[in-house]
Amino acid sequence: MKRTNLSAIGISKTFSRTGSNDSLPVLDMIDFAIQEGEFVSILGPSGCGKSTLLNILAGFEPADIGHATCCDDPIQAPSPERAVVFQSPLLFPWLHVQDNVMYGLKQKGISKADSEELALKYIKDVGLEGFEGYYPSQLSGGMQHRVSLARSLVLNPKVLLMDEPFSSLDAQTRYSMQQLLLRLWEDNRKTIVFITHDVEEALLISDRVCIMSQRPGKIVEEIKVTFDRPRDISLTSSQDFSRLKAHILTRLLS
Ligand SMILES: Nc1ncnc2c1ncn2[C@@H]1O[C@H](COP(=O)(O)OP(=O)(O)O)[C@@H](O)[C@H]1O
Ligand SMILES: [Mg+2]
Repeated sequence: MKRTNLSAIGISKTFSRTGSNDSLPVLDMIDFAIQEGEFVSILGPSGCGKSTLLNILAGFEPADIGHATCCDDPIQAPSPERAVVFQSPLLFPWLHVQDNVMYGLKQKGISKADSEELALKYIKDVGLEGFEGYYPSQLSGGMQHRVSLARSLVLNPKVLLMDEPFSSLDAQTRYSMQQLLLRLWEDNRKTIVFITHDVEEALLISDRVCIMSQRPGKIVEEIKVTFDRPRDISLTSSQDFSRLKAHILTRLLS
């Protein structure tokens, strides 16, 4: 049995507005345990508290009740062990691809020669060999997302926390990013928490889907996704896939 890599233990969160008595309950007793190397999607409607949950797992903000752990240690602050990938690639516009990827390595005090070697490896892994000297403004949206992935993976985190990372991309680019992520995951077996509101995306990529209710978000069901890997788009037309998708959609709408 693999040890638990990331868990949420009874997490609740309420936001209050400064200067007002109004309070907004956002998360309600969230519990889950994610194993090392597992790929888990958290699927829920817009506004149900997915990003809030991810921010707590990242250590960007505290839970009011309960807590999150990574490798049994309480999560209290951001850590390079837990890389966060956002919907927007957030690259440094004044740095070219290679320097964007090397940035975190420099912060960690890795030598220039080692940083260069690592950066070139990951740039190649995400399919951007030959674009090392390009600036973000000279890249397509999909390419910028590839740089963002390389920049996270080069730091060798234990966990990747991804908040709807491909939702702004067109369908084709999105599919190719999903396939790239799956290939990188097969190679590296990082633990991945992938936030999405897209049922097909969750079913195509994950080992398990945690379904959240409307706000205040709770996990209403966890589903193991047992389709064989590697998975491709043809899976979406299978009967089993359609049945599971319909079940999840009904759950999301209830
Ligand atoms: N820092 C904050 N202060 C007050 N309310 C917030 C804050 N962050 C999020 N919210 C509220 O919490 C709810 C859930 O937000 P969010 O976690 O971003 O949802 P999701 O990612 O599922 O769309 C929303 O109603 C949002 O307005
Ligand atoms: Mg969000």
